[in-house]
Amino acid sequence: MKVCVIGTGYVGLVAGTCFAESGNDVICVDVDERKIASLKQGKIPIYEPGLEELIARSTAEGRLSFSTDLGAAVGQSLICFIAVGTPTAPDGSADLQYVERAAADIAKSMADYLVIVNKSNVPVGMAERVRQIVSTHTRVPFDVVSNPEFLKEGAAIQDFMNPDRVVIGSDSQRAIELMRELYSPFVRTERPILVMSAASAEMTKYAANAMLATRISLINEFANLCERVGGDIADVRRGVGFDERIGQHFLFPGIGYGGSCFPKDIKAIIRTAGERGLPFRLLTAVEDVNATQKRVLVEKVLAHFGQDLKGIRLALWGLSFKPRTDDMREAPSLVIVDGLRQAGAEVHAYDPEAMDEAKRVLGESVVYHRSNYDALVDADALLIATEWNEFRRPDFPRMRKLMRRAVIFDGRNVYDPPQMDMQGFTYYSIGRPVVRQET
Ligand SMILES: NC(=O)c1ccc[n+]([C@@H]2O[C@H](COP(=O)([O-])OP(=O)(O)OC[C@H]3O[C@@H](n4cnc5c(N)ncnc54)[C@H](O)[C@@H]3O)[C@@H](O)[C@H]2O)c1
Repeated sequence: MKVCVIGTGYVGLVAGTCFAESGNDVICVDVDERKIASLKQGKIPIYEPGLEELIARSTAEGRLSFSTDLGAAVGQSLICFIAVGTPTAPDGSADLQYVERAAADIAKSMADYLVIVNKSNVPVGMAERVRQIVSTHTRVPFDVVSNPEFLKEGAAIQDFMNPDRVVIGSDSQRAIELMRELYSPFVRTERPILVMSAASAEMTKYAANAMLATRISLINEFANLCERVGGDIADVRRGVGFDERIGQHFLFPGIGYGGSCFPKDIKAIIRTAGERGLPFRLLTAVEDVNATQKRVLVEKVLAHFGQDLKGIRLALWGLSFKPRTDDMREAPSLVIVDGLRQAGAEVHAYDPEAMDEAKRVLGESVVYHRSNYDALVDADALLIATEWNEFRRPDFPRMRKLMRRAVIFDGRNVYDPPQMDMQGFTYYSIGRPVVRQET
């Protein structure tokens, strides 16, 4: 099938690449000329495990190409995906201008029947809005489909190739059949293709993100409660997670959710509901809890060292909002750096993949290091903000030698308290007993 994908971000690039991998002819389009120029040279603008190899293969075999020429791409396609950003507008709603612009641009270039598929996260009603925009510009027949994306950054290829389910929101039999055909290689393991109205599909994506974000805030609140009344959240998590009604996923306590989706989607749902006279109290609380949780490590540092951190040197391992991505959008590390800097601390950071992105976002507010051990030199404490695998089994004696004081604030519960006690560290984590060393 001839497919084009508008927007070559985390979603568009992965979707386009995976559709090409399954044998389709795919053109990925972006307005960002630098991005397209670097993709044409085989340089991938984002870090996503496995993506580079797949792109190299499909481009070499001529199934995948990149372009800034939206008109030409649309003119050659039967199915056109919109995968542009939907960031938060100043009033908290989803900023839909990029989707609207893409819809208008598509409409102006359509030559023949086209299935226009929205993959961006959008409020209910956007498929209808896209339909209206397109029909003001063209008389060429078309259908609009809502096809939300459920991939996780860091495991995006695996998720896209083996989806738990595919959601297709449309009332056009022709479009539904084409979408079924396009997705058939990815659902051979009997995973369902769920066909529903566009409105239900749009709501499904927001509801899924809202439920996951709620689980995170709920376990974080229990972790905070454990710290005050006793109990170890790691045991509690196992205790509830084996209940089949609850399950194990998204129950790891930490320093709050970040990334490009949960924060903005939760805001957008609250906003949409509020506009319709339905104050979404639960999600307002989820958001509130998350904002507090992002500061939890800073509060622990202030409680340990005192409110004034002048002269205190802190190492920070992990900057991306989660492991296996370079995405810094809404990362808890941003709140942590800000809080530590405001209290006067010097921050020395390391991240395996997000250093370039971090430099762009954080500038010179932190000192960047080439390895996690370099960041530890003369540090009064280490903070862990992202649970990269390479942080899981470090050389603890070497760390102690490098650091001025053996103190760790672990925002991701990467280590075990008894293990840290044995290694001679004062150790703070989330929802588990504090380990203190005699001084
Ligand atoms: N990142 C994720 O993990 C994820 C997962 C599921 C869904 N989503 C949703 O998918 C959408 C895209 O997310 P993302 O993380 O890939 O965004 P992104 O910001 O990484 O990429 C968006 C891309 O679209 C391009 N763009 C904007 N307007 C354009 C236009 N008119 N024509 C061509 N290109 C244009 C931008 O230049 C950018 O490269 C969002 O709505 C997001 O909520 C994201």
